[in-house]
Amino acid sequence: MEGLYLCFWLSFLIPSTILHHKTWALKTRLESETELLSRELLESAREAEFFDWLKRVRRRIHEYPELAFEEHQTSQLIRKELDSLGIEYSWPVAGTGVVATIGSGKQPWFSLRADMDALPIQELVDWEYQSKISGKMHACGHDAHVTMLLGAAKLLQSKRDQLQGSVKLVFQPGEEGHAGAYHMLKEGALNGFQAIFGLHVSPELPTGVIGSRPGLMMAGAGRFLAVIQGVGGHAASPHKTRDPILAASFAVIALQQIVSRETDPLDARVVSVGFIEGGYAGNVIPETVKLGGTFRSMTSEGFSFLQQRIKEVIEKQAAVHRCTAMIDFLEEKLRPYPPMVNDAAMYEHAKSVGEALFGRSNVQLLSTIMGAEDFSFYSQKMPAAFFMIGVKNETMKSYEGAHSPYFTIDEEVLPLGAALHAAVAITYLDGNVEIQ
Ligand SMILES: *[C@@H]1O[C@H](CO)[C@@H](O)[C@H](O)[C@H]1NC(C)=O
Repeated sequence: MEGLYLCFWLSFLIPSTILHHKTWALKTRLESETELLSRELLESAREAEFFDWLKRVRRRIHEYPELAFEEHQTSQLIRKELDSLGIEYSWPVAGTGVVATIGSGKQPWFSLRADMDALPIQELVDWEYQSKISGKMHACGHDAHVTMLLGAAKLLQSKRDQLQGSVKLVFQPGEEGHAGAYHMLKEGALNGFQAIFGLHVSPELPTGVIGSRPGLMMAGAGRFLAVIQGVGGHAASPHKTRDPILAASFAVIALQQIVSRETDPLDARVVSVGFIEGGYAGNVIPETVKLGGTFRSMTSEGFSFLQQRIKEVIEKQAAVHRCTAMIDFLEEKLRPYPPMVNDAAMYEHAKSVGEALFGRSNVQLLSTIMGAEDFSFYSQKMPAAFFMIGVKNETMKSYEGAHSPYFTIDEEVLPLGAALHAAVAITYLDGNVEIQ
């Protein structure tokens, strides 16, 4: 990124042969500086005392998981650590969120983000720091995300006098379906920010490997809930009822054709029914059946199309069976996530820092996935890059998928993520100043 801008700027002043030599020399110098800086950051984060602190923080958060918008203790722990590092912050933002500032407070403002919430899952990993809260678990690594960002806070704070601007640390609530990022933006907590970087642990990549892709990375996703209303009665006299079980069954089958018959096979879309709830006895036809699920697309047109067709298909299948249907897209409570798009220049920037830190072969180009992330709300507002960071280690058995009750991470990732966050921020600010 820096190279390109400089090239453009210098071209007004200098003949092109000198220009090429100069930009090449500058680029090489920047690359080796990035390597030195990131190595230094990683060495600091890996020192025994620093690493022990990271593990303590992560295990503490892991033991006391909190669901979306209930992250009170997690938020308090974050503020306590920021206090002891002497870092200022705003709180509360969007309920439990915290936005900390490191550096002079002057522009440019570069942002690093972590999400804080856990999942309604009973942990089945048998280890010393297992979740102490029944039915709740950090099964998506947000405990590690918070810890890596606190690690970055410590690294950045020790270099605060050299920062060419400010680093804003965004600790947000409610990533799991509750669009915490949207609420952070709505409260203006990210106004004036120039760009943002985020990390997510991945049990599909080995520890020490990161990956992402430029442009479109993840799907836009929404939820739907349908209530099919019939007329209940004795199952021996079906003609005196209007059977919502049958209507729901037809609706579930009919929903499958939206993707298989109405969507270009080369266009990635998903409609999945995740639950059906209805009835209570074998000899009773119930009054109502509830069903719900998720739908996903890589484009907003695709998203609107699916939304419209899900409504039509369920309503009309209900009507065929003399029932009625109410469809709710839960847009207030479970706001749809837009597709996650990485800015090409921000992606290149983070990739080059990742290569300096982990080596070229340990930065992978990933495929697009139908998973969704509310980081996409930030990517709609400013240049954003979102990277996956590996936690897979056979010895640690950290290969179970996210949202599994057996999900676990290799804690070696903690200093790696902290150093990557810090290096991406420092070099962004350095480059930004040289551009101007
Ligand atoms: C996996 O974890 C073990 C135990 O901590 C460690 O010795 C080993 O180096 C790790 N492997 C990788 C590839 O990180």
